[in-house]
Amino acid sequence: MSEHGSAKPTKGILLAGGSGTRLHPMTLAVSKQLLPVYDKPMIFYPLSTLMLAGIRDIMIISTPADLPLFRRLLGDGADMGVTFTYREQPAPDGIAQAFVIADDWLDDSPCGLILGDNLIFADHLGKQMRAAATRPSGATVFAYQVRDPERYGVVNFSENGHALDIVEKPTEPKSNWAVTGLYFYDGRVREYARSLKPSPRGELEITDLNRLYLQSDELHVQRLGRGCAWLDAGMPDSLMQAGQFVQTIQSRQGLLVGSPHEVAFRMGFIDAAGLEAYARGMIKTELGQSLMAIAHGEG
Ligand code: G1P
Repeated sequence: MSEHGSAKPTKGILLAGGSGTRLHPMTLAVSKQLLPVYDKPMIFYPLSTLMLAGIRDIMIISTPADLPLFRRLLGDGADMGVTFTYREQPAPDGIAQAFVIADDWLDDSPCGLILGDNLIFADHLGKQMRAAATRPSGATVFAYQVRDPERYGVVNFSENGHALDIVEKPTEPKSNWAVTGLYFYDGRVREYARSLKPSPRGELEITDLNRLYLQSDELHVQRLGRGCAWLDAGMPDSLMQAGQFVQTIQSRQGLLVGSPHEVAFRMGFIDAAGLEAYARGMIKTELGQSLMAIAHGEG
């Protein structure tokens, strides 16, 4: 263990706040992260990702109006072999505010954070994330090549692949590598988050937090290559595309995408009887039937 290393298990935060203005009127009465992405609520996908990283202690952060809906959907987590804690973000004051909200709960545990509208699918992602989640010190972010980097946090690299800088929504991006909404931090994250000041747009920026790690040469940027899909379902087109992507893989391959119950079973968080009990409750759906087959060793 290094000086910052922690023997504590990595906790996870799922941030599902925001007002979803780019999806109005769909999100006037319901949270964006509860909208369907094909056959599951959006939040199931980032939740599955966190669980695939081996994380079982998860805080769900959302607006005061939406938090009860997430609680109704997800409960205490027992059916997935995880523990959920719910906490309000009273106003959308930035992604890094999650660590201020979670401060006492986090203690000095390492932590993974995922944004509730980020869908990431990649072979070996589980392995990469488990390595990031157990890294004794530093932070890990994932970069993905996009056509419209100005919409994201953008990282640029030196010739030998070393991250040089990260800039939030630059008008003139220095690269087309966007930073995805999946982050892993060591136990110093609370301390760093406490030191942040609101940006000109009035938010505690996740990019500023990442820059603190970068400045102390403790930011690991992992590039996600070809064959990996990172979708954000924040606009009508991308929401539809995400649903079609999931439908295509599931119906072509017969493999589930973004099922936290399947992940729970495969990660050993629940046993076959637990998965079967959940599947029985939705056996009229293809999802329920697929989960039942997996519980019976046929998936
Ligand atoms: C946020 C972050 C940005 C990141 C993006 C990933 O942007 O600020 O750095 O690239 O999430 O989805 P937002 O989409 O909240 O504006």
